[in-house]
Amino acid sequence: MTLSDLIPSLGSRAGARLAAGVWPASARLGPEGDLTVGGVSMTRLAATFGSPAYVIDEAEVRRNCRAYRAALPEVEISYASKALLTRGVARWVCEEGLGLDVCSAGEVAVARRAGVAGDRITLHGNAKTPEDLKAAISGQVGRVVVDSFDEIDQLAGVARARQQVLVRVTPGIDAHTHRAIATGVEDQKFGFSLASGAAAEAVRRVLARPALALAGLHCHLGSQITRVACFEEAARRMVGLLAEIRDEHGVALPVLNLGGGHAAGADGFDLSAFANRVRVAVAYECDRHRLPVPRLAIEPGRALVARAGVTLYRVVTVKRLPHRTYVAVDGGMSDNLRPALYGARYTAMMVGRATTAPTTEMTIAGRHCEAGDLLATDVPLPTDIHAGDLLAVPCTGAYHHAMANNYNLVCRPPLIAVADGEPRVLIRRETEDDLAARDVGA
Ligand code: LLP
Repeated sequence: MTLSDLIPSLGSRAGARLAAGVWPASARLGPEGDLTVGGVSMTRLAATFGSPAYVIDEAEVRRNCRAYRAALPEVEISYASKALLTRGVARWVCEEGLGLDVCSAGEVAVARRAGVAGDRITLHGNAKTPEDLKAAISGQVGRVVVDSFDEIDQLAGVARARQQVLVRVTPGIDAHTHRAIATGVEDQKFGFSLASGAAAEAVRRVLARPALALAGLHCHLGSQITRVACFEEAARRMVGLLAEIRDEHGVALPVLNLGGGHAAGADGFDLSAFANRVRVAVAYECDRHRLPVPRLAIEPGRALVARAGVTLYRVVTVKRLPHRTYVAVDGGMSDNLRPALYGARYTAMMVGRATTAPTTEMTIAGRHCEAGDLLATDVPLPTDIHAGDLLAVPCTGAYHHAMANNYNLVCRPPLIAVADGEPRVLIRRETEDDLAARDVGA
């Protein structure tokens, strides 16, 4: 029983409790309804930098990297930087001992400008352009994960020294996640199918190319996966393919990369179960096939940064309809596409003002010209919420800044790091001059 159960007048406080599993560990509710993250007041941050604003807790990102390193000390861990990439974030994860996954020339450029050594970078992509491949070669990236027969030829054509590659395999596993982010199933734009024999053929073609050095196999089952059993099954099937390759070509490939996809948020991901069960599955299958145990590699993105992010919005207007209250804010699907794309669900909290008003469930609407631009539904908010109030939306560190866009020519928000009580701009707010700069006026 909590204090607010005993004293009903504290009812609105109950609504203002930090929901489990979605806020950075440093998040604290302060007096007068303020919220601090990384020791920084969100009210002050919004006053200084404006809204909407993405906030990222550096200590939380570093802590997550360390948790992965501690759980999987023998495993190569790369951060899937598509989740959130800035020079600052790249430096944090590399300082914590992780490598970096990238999937475009742009991501290679940011990684290299952050000072990440080429041999710690892996390039992905189902349709790498000639520019992507050239960037990989000139950036001397450690590995390229080849994804198509065309790419094998194209990469072999531009590689200078022997380029290390992994072959991306589609293992035919349904990871029970949203269809748009399920990548392990057959009928798929990614990778080479295991079942059809395309993966074995890709291995043959890579081995036939003197410019390419086959380091191993890769698979990525999808994103926001909670079931460890999917990874165990993938590991078994991939070891089976490693054994077939050994039988056909007489080579035991040294690397097995099981991709990313570990869930973040309230449902969470059991990292220690993953570590134990995948290790056991790989060891057992290798033993069964008389195969040396490969070096395991993984590439989580969301799990390292999602919970470190909070987005701040200012309420612009409140519409009270008979059956629903819409709280419309100064952002929306331009800074968070995930509800519209995947039906992703968010919670939110009013911060910066004490209230004793009771809470009721409301819908948080974005500012864009679409009825579907809703950031969150059924969020308990105080009934006295009004224009000018501040809302904080947690678990927005992954695939928010990264997928931001200029719909309705809205300027993209800044990304502000918080650490040790200090805010620091990583990405400044976009301006109308930025927008105008690309419109050459022809
Ligand atoms: N490795 C590969 C090859 C990937 O394609 C991805 C993500 C990852 C690793 C990292 O996955 P994570 O650990 O972050 O789940 N925009 C979607 C997610 C798309 C993920 C794309 N690939 C979302 O907002 O949920």
